[in-house]
Amino acid sequence: MGLDRAASINDLRLRAKRRIPRFAFDLVDGGAENERNMRRNSEAFEEVELTPRYMVDVSKIDTTATVFGQTYDAPFGMAPIGMLNAFWPGADLTLARLCKAQNIPYVASSASSTTLEALAEAADGNGWFQLYVSSDAAVTEGLIARAEAAGYTTLMVTADVPAAGKRDRDIRNQLAVPFRFTPDVILQCAMNPRWALRSLKYGAPNVANYANLLQGATSYAEVQKTLITPGFTWDDLKRLRARWKGRLLVKGILHAQDAVTCAELGCDGIVVSNHGGRQVDFGPPTIEALPAIADAVAGRMTVIVDSGIRRGADMLRAKALGADFAFAGRAFAYGVGAGGDAGAQKAFEILHLELVRALGQLGVSTFDDVGPTHLSKYRNK
Ligand SMILES: Cc1cc2nc3c(=O)[nH]c(=O)nc-3n(C[C@H](O)[C@H](O)[C@H](O)COP(=O)(O)O)c2cc1C
Repeated sequence: MGLDRAASINDLRLRAKRRIPRFAFDLVDGGAENERNMRRNSEAFEEVELTPRYMVDVSKIDTTATVFGQTYDAPFGMAPIGMLNAFWPGADLTLARLCKAQNIPYVASSASSTTLEALAEAADGNGWFQLYVSSDAAVTEGLIARAEAAGYTTLMVTADVPAAGKRDRDIRNQLAVPFRFTPDVILQCAMNPRWALRSLKYGAPNVANYANLLQGATSYAEVQKTLITPGFTWDDLKRLRARWKGRLLVKGILHAQDAVTCAELGCDGIVVSNHGGRQVDFGPPTIEALPAIADAVAGRMTVIVDSGIRRGADMLRAKALGADFAFAGRAFAYGVGAGGDAGAQKAFEILHLELVRALGQLGVSTFDDVGPTHLSKYRNK
């Protein structure tokens, strides 16, 4: 199917699947273990029903949303995705530029395949930085100092990776450090010549912000120790709050009490997230975790949700259940995989046009006005 005929994010996903070697596609498309949590994320969004109201003038629709004093043209942004250039070479910069052009936030990952400095420049004022706390305090401090120097003012620290997720597809695909060109991988590349040629042009992707530290790494264990730590605690968050002068958000919150503690420690916001179902397969979908969390911290901090957003209406569902803003990860990745710059643009357009249409159908002309009164049923409350 051509890009122009793609009607949904899932159409973009199917097109990307045909253009990308399996091992690289699975890297983004996969989730933890049985992938139950990943599936439930989107299903649970679909289960939230909103009741339309009619005879309301919806000839002008306003999708703007203001977060941390900045007004964005849509109530969603691009979630941080590590190593995205392995999925589609050049994807990081394509998406940072798209977010600037559409005036939505772009979150640069600590584990991005392009340096945080280059991404700050491309996102040009619309960039936020996602921080992984390393087992080496000097590595964490190095990233914070670089983020500050690059001009980021919003830091999103990820809490939900005390251990790396177990992704069965990656194990089956024998992903390893250093990357191994097995006969199967070579065959997969040969069957996707466009991807292979682009990869040759862009070079092998790496976790660019740690490139010097990881030179010569020979195992995943080494990479993980540099990137993440099982020892990240509330005391570290307290220190981080004192260290970072800008806005601070915690990403990966699923429990209302954890959200309350974030507020008490002076954080500016949280992202209710389960990492797109890539961490724990036994956890709840985020849209089910959201209402209790939003109730607990309503008015005290900004509440953002991600994981499973595939339709414009999902943003309305999230807003009705207490979120201020949303992020999408794979939806944008599928777009860029389906068609580079034009595909990324298409992903944005699909989500945004669906959102505009859904607002009109709901009988609401301003995104900000969506609220609990639009819920057909008060689920999980
Ligand atoms: C391939 C991939 C890599 C990711 N890398 C990171 C990362 O480096 N840091 C982070 O905080 N979250 C990371 N995430 C999680 C996303 O930020 C986001 O929470 C998730 O993609 C949302 O779910 P969705 O893909 O269903 O929209 C990653 C997700 C994917 C799919």
